[in-house]
Amino acid sequence: MNFNDVLPLDLSSTCNREIIQKSFHITKNAGFFAKEMHSKNFSIHHKDSIDLVTEIDIKTEKQIISSIESSFPDHSIVSEEIGEIRKSSPFTWIIDPIDGTTNYAHRLPFWAVSIGIYENDNPIIGLVFAPEMNQFFIGIHSQGAWLNGQRIFVSTCENISQSLLSTGFPYDIRETSYTNLDLFSYFCKKTQAVRRFGSASIDICYVATGLLDGYWEQDLKHWDFAAAKIILEEANGIITTIHGDTLPWKHSSVLCANKKLHSVIATEIAHSNAILKRI
Ligand code: IPD
Ligand code: CA
Ligand code: CA
Repeated sequence: MNFNDVLPLDLSSTCNREIIQKSFHITKNAGFFAKEMHSKNFSIHHKDSIDLVTEIDIKTEKQIISSIESSFPDHSIVSEEIGEIRKSSPFTWIIDPIDGTTNYAHRLPFWAVSIGIYENDNPIIGLVFAPEMNQFFIGIHSQGAWLNGQRIFVSTCENISQSLLSTGFPYDIRETSYTNLDLFSYFCKKTQAVRRFGSASIDICYVATGLLDGYWEQDLKHWDFAAAKIILEEANGIITTIHGDTLPWKHSSVLCANKKLHSVIATEIAHSNAILKRI
């Protein structure tokens, strides 16, 4: 897998060229490492009753972080398993080493390495690599979004009853009242269908590619959407909280779609009588 096949873009005048090229290699290597390990035995631990972490989540994260630290020792890192490593530089890498861990633990191929890089609050690059499905998504701020080197755009579907949506459910579903189940049933009756794939970053990238028309979830972490947000926006999509507000730099609900459908779904959510997270 070559850089130019995945990102056919002239970077000669881009000031972040080194970050873009190295982040591609770091994401690619992490994805191939986790893919290779998927056919072997690995240990699985419970963070909570249904929230899993595998030995490979930890090893993949370590590999990513040590590559970043050797190339960009002053860059900050926010990563799911290790937390925050704050440094002096304005650049921050937001990492989900394996997004779709439950799938990974059950040997399903639907998981991805997700890395978003920001300079202060400004997006630079989003990378989502699903190696077992041979899908490498990249979004470069103000330049566009690609899947395996092909430009991608959100769908043109504006009609909720013809839309295919996706969603997900929180790990504390057994305890919380914010289960998302009422909104799930609501949209099952309003749309063509609602899917649950189990990897938020891929869900958002599938909206960016027009394979799905929209996606929402009520309780995501920053590393679930930081990379895919850049890809979705570069594919002309809109991504906000389920209330239509700007996504915060922390845990949040997420709603994304093309511009017209986004506003239709947001209005449906507001009128649904479902129990909604405040953010
Ligand atoms: C999870 C996946 C899942 C979503 C959960 C996330 P993880 O991330 O993205 O699709 O429904 O909310 O926490 O735990 O597999 O990295
Ligand atoms: Ca995740
Ligand atoms: Ca994860």
